[in-house]
Amino acid sequence: MPLIEARGLTKKFRQAVKEPGLVGSLKHFFSRQYRDKIAVDHIDFSVEAGESVAYLGPNGAGKSTTIKMLTGILVPTSGSLVVDGLVPHEKRQQNARKIGVVFGQRTQLWWDIPVIESFNLARDMYEIPAARYRDNLAQFTEILGLAEFMNLPAAKISLGQRMRADLCMALLHDPRILYLDEPTIGLDIAVKDSIRGFIRSRIEERGTTVILTTHDLGDIEDICKRIVIIDNGKIIHDGDLAKLKDTYARDRVIHFQLARPPESMGPIGAGLPACEITTDGLRLSVRFDRFKLAAGEIAAAVMPHVEVVDFRIDEPEVEDLIRKVYLGQLSLSPDAPQTGVLAGA
Ligand SMILES: Nc1ncnc2c1ncn2[C@@H]1O[C@H](COP(=O)(O)OP(=O)(O)O)[C@@H](O)[C@H]1O
Ligand SMILES: [Mg+2]
Repeated sequence: MPLIEARGLTKKFRQAVKEPGLVGSLKHFFSRQYRDKIAVDHIDFSVEAGESVAYLGPNGAGKSTTIKMLTGILVPTSGSLVVDGLVPHEKRQQNARKIGVVFGQRTQLWWDIPVIESFNLARDMYEIPAARYRDNLAQFTEILGLAEFMNLPAAKISLGQRMRADLCMALLHDPRILYLDEPTIGLDIAVKDSIRGFIRSRIEERGTTVILTTHDLGDIEDICKRIVIIDNGKIIHDGDLAKLKDTYARDRVIHFQLARPPESMGPIGAGLPACEITTDGLRLSVRFDRFKLAAGEIAAAVMPHVEVVDFRIDEPEVEDLIRKVYLGQLSLSPDAPQTGVLAGA
């Protein structure tokens, strides 16, 4: 029996249809018109205990709606959902004890009281035994660096501090499942790293099951092994991250900052026949297949011909990966994993 099982899970919202402006508002007041928006459309998935799943898709695809059904905040319109033996919206309290939730867009901390008081409230709410609370709090404070702002109200701390505190709060009761909805949005690299490292350690040491929505490939690479992609309420891909990357993210681009514009591109092009080379003023960019060439080989071919001041390698964006899945390029690649939905696209 999987830890999470969704079958035909569907959520419809009734959305008001209103013309713009005052006339529209008046019309709407007298004769309301609505249309159904199917945010999540008959999705099936199961997640085994200990899995770490990235749940991806463009804005409005239905990710947050799915997470809210999983947490029991929203009631599904139809279909079935069982999480660790419970139907979340029917047993909200019981479900809440087994899960931790972090919404990047909205804090779970009480706004006006010191962060530590929010933690203490969580302790009371979840009835966390005193010793376990003390140990967890001490450990999380250390790893996430919470001490410096623990006594400030949530309203007075930075976004990065808030996310670290939210993560601590979500895990104080040692939940089996952690739902993360865009947890690193707007954070700088250092904070992202500390959050990712912490989540990874929970997965490795405690076998916590993680479902993560994000737009950041770094999050996914650090945390998730499996990728589920939803578009327009429907799951269009469900599979291994490594396979997805090998299929879609073969390309890397290395950008060189030059001291002077290159005199001639000829010798560089000749040294890198399989690459796409472009220049723009003092910038030289080389797109290459990371399975055929290493960044060092590109540098070795470029450096003798130009004076390089700096360089940087662009990793592929998750958005690009997702877009390629939409475009159905899966079926064009001979070594691609075949999925039912896309194989014929
Ligand atoms: N409470 C709501 N009422 C009406 N429509 C909603 C509500 N919540 C979400 N939606 C709509 O459902 C769709 C999916 O939203 P959401 O799950 O938030 O997407 P995502 O998290 O993937 O960006 C969107 O079209 C959104 O406008
Ligand atoms: Mg969302």
